[in-house]
Amino acid sequence: MAILVSGGAGYIGSHMVLELLDRGEKVVVLDDLSTGFWWAVPQEATLVRGDMGDQALVERTIAEHGITEIAHFAARIVVPDSVSDPLGYYLNNTVKTRALLESAVRGGVKHVIFSSTAAVYGEPPVSPVPEEIALNPINPYGRSKLMSEWMLGDVARAHGLTYVALRYFNVAGADPRGRSGQSSANATHLIKVASQAALGQRAGLDIFGTDYATPDGTCVRDYIHVTDLARAHLAALDHLRAGGENLTLNCGYGRGYSVKEVVEVVKQVSGVDFPVRLSPRRDGDPAALVAKADRIRSELGWQPEHDDLTEIVTQALAWEESLRKRNAS
Ligand SMILES: NC(=O)c1ccc[n+]([C@@H]2O[C@H](COP(=O)([O-])OP(=O)(O)OC[C@H]3O[C@@H](n4cnc5c(N)ncnc54)[C@H](O)[C@@H]3O)[C@@H](O)[C@H]2O)c1
Repeated sequence: MAILVSGGAGYIGSHMVLELLDRGEKVVVLDDLSTGFWWAVPQEATLVRGDMGDQALVERTIAEHGITEIAHFAARIVVPDSVSDPLGYYLNNTVKTRALLESAVRGGVKHVIFSSTAAVYGEPPVSPVPEEIALNPINPYGRSKLMSEWMLGDVARAHGLTYVALRYFNVAGADPRGRSGQSSANATHLIKVASQAALGQRAGLDIFGTDYATPDGTCVRDYIHVTDLARAHLAALDHLRAGGENLTLNCGYGRGYSVKEVVEVVKQVSGVDFPVRLSPRRDGDPAALVAKADRIRSELGWQPEHDDLTEIVTQALAWEESLRKRNAS
C-alpha cells in the first residue's frame, strides 16, 4: 500500500509529503519539475520524474509501487497565465487529470484526494462562501479545476473509487520545522511577495485596489497555513480509508484579513517598513473571499493548529530567508 502524490515537489504537495512521511506512510511523488524542485522531495519518498499525462509511466508506477491512493496536486496555477494560455491550462490541468484518472481506474486505485480551489466560485455574491453556492469560475484556471472536480465525481460514480475534493482558499506560510515552503521565484501570493519585499528582494509591493466595499477598501482573503491544509488531506485520507463517502469541502479558517492588514503584519514581524504602492484594481479580484469553514470540521474532525497570521508570516519569512541562503550558495 502506497500513496502517489502528484505535484509532490511543489509548494503544497511537498508539505503533504512531509506530513505523510511523519506518520510513516509509503510515499511516491510524481512530478515533472516544471514548477517544483527535486530537493523539495525528502529522500524517504520515491521521486518519479515525469508527466501525469504519460499513462504508460503512471500505470507502471501504480503497479510497481502498489499505489492504492492518489493525492492529486499537480497543476499550473497562475491565473493571468491561464488567461493568456487557456489551451495550455486546459491541457495540463484538465486533459492530464483525465489521463491520471484513467490510469488510476486501470490500476485499481481506491481513493483520490483532489486539490481544488476557491477559484471555482468566481466572484461569489456572499462571504463567507458555502460549498453549495452556484459555481461560476471567471478564468480558465478556475474552469480547468472545476472540470476536473466534475470528472472526478463522474469517474467515482462509474468506477467505484471514492474521493475528497478540497477547495483551498489562500494558502500561505511554511513548514513550522523549516523543511519546506513556497519556493517558486515567480509566485504571486501576497505573503510571499511581501516577505520578499521585506527581505529587499523586491523594490516594494503593489496593493491592487483600495476602493472595495471592505472595511479598509482593500481585498479580504482567508489565509490558511499550508501545514493545516496538508493535515486536512490526512484527515480526508483517513475518512476515505474508513469507508467514508465522497466529499467536496472548503479549506479555510472562515476568517478574512485585508491586504493592508497582511502587509502591516509582515512589516511588524520583519521590522522592515518596505515601500507600498497603492495601484488600481486588477480584473477578476472579488472584494472578499472567505470560506464558510464548518463543514470540513464536522465531516473530517479537522482542527486547525496554525490559524494565526503572525505565525504564518513568521514562518513564511523564515523560509524566504533560508531560500535566499540556498540560492546564494
Ligand atoms: N497555492 C495556492 O494558494 C492554491 C490555492 C488553491 C488551489 N491550489 C491548488 O493546489 C495545487 C498545488 O499548488 P501549489 O501552490 O503547490 O503549486 P506548485 O506549482 O508549487 O506545485 C504544482 C506541482 O505540480 C507539478 N506539475 C505541474 N504539472 C505537472 C504535470 N503535468 N505532471 C507532473 N507534475 C506536474 C509542478 O512541477 C509542481 O511541482 C494545485 O492543484 C493548485 O491548483 C493552490
